[in-house]
Amino acid sequence: MPKTIYLTTPLYYVNASPHIGHSYTNVAADAFARYHRLKGEPVFLLTGTDEHGQKIAQAAAAAGQEPQAFVDRVVGTFESLWKTLDIRYDRFIRTTEPGHVRAVQALLQQLYDDKKLTQAAYQGWYCTPDETFWTAGELAGAAGSDPKGSDPASHAPSGFPLCPVCQRPLESTKEEGWYLRLRAHQDWLKQFVQAHPVFVRPESRYNELKSLLEQPLPEYLCITRPKSRVSWGIPVPFSADHVVYVWFDALLNYITVPRYLERQPNDLWPPAVHFIGKDILRHHGLYWPIMLHELGIPDAQMPTMIFAHGWWRIGEQKMSKSLGNIVDPAAVIGGLLKDQPYAADVYRYFLLREISFGQDGSFSEAAILKRLNTDLGNDLGNLVNRTLSMIDRYCGGVIPERAPVGCAVEDEPLQQAVLGLPAAVDAAMTAIDYSRALEAIMAVVAHANRYIESQAPWKLAKQPEARGRLGAVLRLSTEVLRVVAVMLLPCMPSVSRAMWQQLGLLGEPVRLSDAQWSTRAESRPIAKEHPVLFPRVEVVG
Ligand code: MSP
Repeated sequence: MPKTIYLTTPLYYVNASPHIGHSYTNVAADAFARYHRLKGEPVFLLTGTDEHGQKIAQAAAAAGQEPQAFVDRVVGTFESLWKTLDIRYDRFIRTTEPGHVRAVQALLQQLYDDKKLTQAAYQGWYCTPDETFWTAGELAGAAGSDPKGSDPASHAPSGFPLCPVCQRPLESTKEEGWYLRLRAHQDWLKQFVQAHPVFVRPESRYNELKSLLEQPLPEYLCITRPKSRVSWGIPVPFSADHVVYVWFDALLNYITVPRYLERQPNDLWPPAVHFIGKDILRHHGLYWPIMLHELGIPDAQMPTMIFAHGWWRIGEQKMSKSLGNIVDPAAVIGGLLKDQPYAADVYRYFLLREISFGQDGSFSEAAILKRLNTDLGNDLGNLVNRTLSMIDRYCGGVIPERAPVGCAVEDEPLQQAVLGLPAAVDAAMTAIDYSRALEAIMAVVAHANRYIESQAPWKLAKQPEARGRLGAVLRLSTEVLRVVAVMLLPCMPSVSRAMWQQLGLLGEPVRLSDAQWSTRAESRPIAKEHPVLFPRVEVVG
């Protein structure tokens, strides 16, 4: 049995409902998972929610609810968005699940029993929105680095330093607790990272991790919080006064699920790709491998890749509550795209096509409508519509038989382009480059539209002696549509299914081999109805 491709997304904080940033990681992970399923490979996609910690406790208090009742409510907004966006995950983990809580306690107890933890007092800074500790040394080393792309400033008007990641004022904190050694593992991690050039992708993030490792790491990472300060967390089994630090609890989900909650005969571990955003590279690239190393995971069993994608700005602004520009995907789908029969796929297409995965990008309604009206409406939708309408009009709704002789010289370039498409998409998807995969698909679509223009089936239809040629042109156009439908599936699953069914095929594409060039000669009726896939939306203003 081949090894299951184990993929993870971050666990999202449930202090508020999901936004475009959360949807981005899940759409990307889902498209990757679907591509591998299409290749016939076993895949396990894990997503979920991060439900403990000070930030959630504060949000619950502000909503006047108990933390558990609060998270039970907000988690529904994530589950419902994943349904809307057609995210096909295999397991949804909540960090408040009793099984996860027990597993975290067992792993912590293991570290304690193995004398891997140190008890001490921490004095430093804490960022509650990011739930992250910063030492004075790290703040000095991080000056000027700003993953979220806002202006680096080092101090708030209050005089407190600003978080190097989110630029909000840090709180001074002094608390006693349990610590994991970081510096002691620095040399090991440096060598590991050096020896595994794809441990972090894209390359810019890999270099960022390498440069973080050039500076001395803090001696320790505090992995507990005093109950007196934060009570909403997993109780530490060997200390009644502490709960587990929320990042320690959340990162462990990647191992509690395969090892404790989902045991399968074909063990899922290690993860093939951890999909994350670039702001949480430090947690995944430094703390996580060191935690695993301390837990005795050998180098050969470390996660294969962490892919840290870029950030969406809103227009030219950073997205933030205070600017009031948070993009709610459900509102985009139910508002701007309300008349689209495949609104979720339009949204998915936009996210995956607009920027190369790994880069930052800018979201605007105008940008999404431009992709909808041009790539999807004018190009893909038009190709589907004109081909199927001509089959109705000129061929009685039946795809013409394949010509007994080989391909005409005018057909060859398009046929070659279609034959080369699966390999082009495979290369792009292997490099986790969705925009390149979609670009290759859309290039074939544009090619097919040009082919139809040049072959002008409407003229051939007027010449009785050109009947055979008309059939060949429309047959080739439908072959393009069939291959395109298969290749689009990972990014646009509903559109893929709709195209498949409009072509008169049953169900939906299930295997990459469904994209193989058809050698069958027989003719086949298309669906009676083939409604427009992407109705045009007028851009106002
Ligand atoms: N709970 C932690 C992750 C724990 S993983 C064991 C967390 N949660 S989060 O809800 O704040 O963020 C989750 C993800 O959303 C991060 O990967 C982050 O990069 C991503 N995004 C948040 N805002 C974003 C944009 N504006 N653009 C793209 N992604 C962004 O961090």
